[in-house]
Amino acid sequence: MNLFDVYPIYDIEPVKALGEYLWDANGNQYLDLYGGHAVISIGHTHPHYVNKISAQLNQIGFYSNSVKISIQQELATKLGQLSGLEDYQLFLCNSGAEANENALKLASFANGRKKIVSFTHSFHGRTSLAVAATDNKALIAPVNETDNVVFLPFNDVEALENYFTKHGEEVSSVIIEGIQGVGGVNVASNDFLKAIRSLCDTFGAYFIADSVQCGYGRSGKFFSHSYADVKADIYSMAKGMGNGFPIGGIIISPKLKAKYGMLGTTFGGNHLACAAAIAVLDVIKEEDLINRASHLGDYLKDNLTGLEEVVEVRGMGLMIGIEFGFPIENLRNKLLFDHKIFVGNAYNKNVLRVLPALNVRKESLDIFLEALHQTYRKVMSA
Ligand SMILES: Cc1ncc(COP(=O)(O)O)c(C=O)c1O
Repeated sequence: MNLFDVYPIYDIEPVKALGEYLWDANGNQYLDLYGGHAVISIGHTHPHYVNKISAQLNQIGFYSNSVKISIQQELATKLGQLSGLEDYQLFLCNSGAEANENALKLASFANGRKKIVSFTHSFHGRTSLAVAATDNKALIAPVNETDNVVFLPFNDVEALENYFTKHGEEVSSVIIEGIQGVGGVNVASNDFLKAIRSLCDTFGAYFIADSVQCGYGRSGKFFSHSYADVKADIYSMAKGMGNGFPIGGIIISPKLKAKYGMLGTTFGGNHLACAAAIAVLDVIKEEDLINRASHLGDYLKDNLTGLEEVVEVRGMGLMIGIEFGFPIENLRNKLLFDHKIFVGNAYNKNVLRVLPALNVRKESLDIFLEALHQTYRKVMSA
């Protein structure tokens, strides 16, 4: 049997990983400043993480949500403490798309409405509603097409207010990434997030903060939406939550009430996934990684100077997008093959995405800065 060929891949196979480094079978070392699409939050194979998952596996790895699983409550308690949302409720699932799917569904259950407001260049995942709320027609199969989702221009307060003035009573939820990742590291403005909060309150709609990529401390706050000093009704999470172990979840405001059967999953909240997620939270707290992400992000941005064709350096904490005046594919490939550094691209072909582990060493960022300057000079003079 062959694999279903949906991924364009690099001819590189990492077989070992530690911290922000990867090694292939030939012993080549790679600096990982992308974490496999923003997943690696506390570094590869962190000892606390490995110990916690191994110990759990030796006890019990899985049972379904039909029995008591007290490690779920331990995770919820720690998540409440670190996010500052102690009065919120936690529902666990397995991925970012599933988290958004459940968030959108829950909002609709709660207010009985159908319309979802999403924004240009958004990415919310590939399951049916999540993909319908994603602004990329190539990903939406005919069966996912729906009139229930409307796309408004990102960061345009006036367009949002106009839409709500006409259709506000129909809106079930507004879903927005605090910092758009796949779209090209576009930061939602504080005014825009505040306007969403206030319009949702006025019209009885729910504010869903897609924090799958920008959440979990990456931005220098636990949730990047907090920069605008607003609280969402539902936060969706995945990626950095398990540092590579598949887990997702939604954090739900106390105003949304649970009912048996309204949401559910077989695997979500299993013992192993919870152990992984707890280990991540322990390390984030122990190593002060949220502050670290903030400081290291500032350091990186301050040193991304002297590159003439840079249009803009965007992002917060360790979620950084460097927009060049030209497509970055060649630059990215040279960083990977000549300097052995992984960075990411984006839907905006001119944007290089940098998403290191939150405990990346400053020396590693210096290695990247030096390699970027060298590669940039080569690309410009070619
Ligand atoms: C903001 C955002 N939401 C949702 C998703 C979907 O997550 P997953 O691939 O885990 O389903 C992604 C994945 O890139 C994302 O960046």
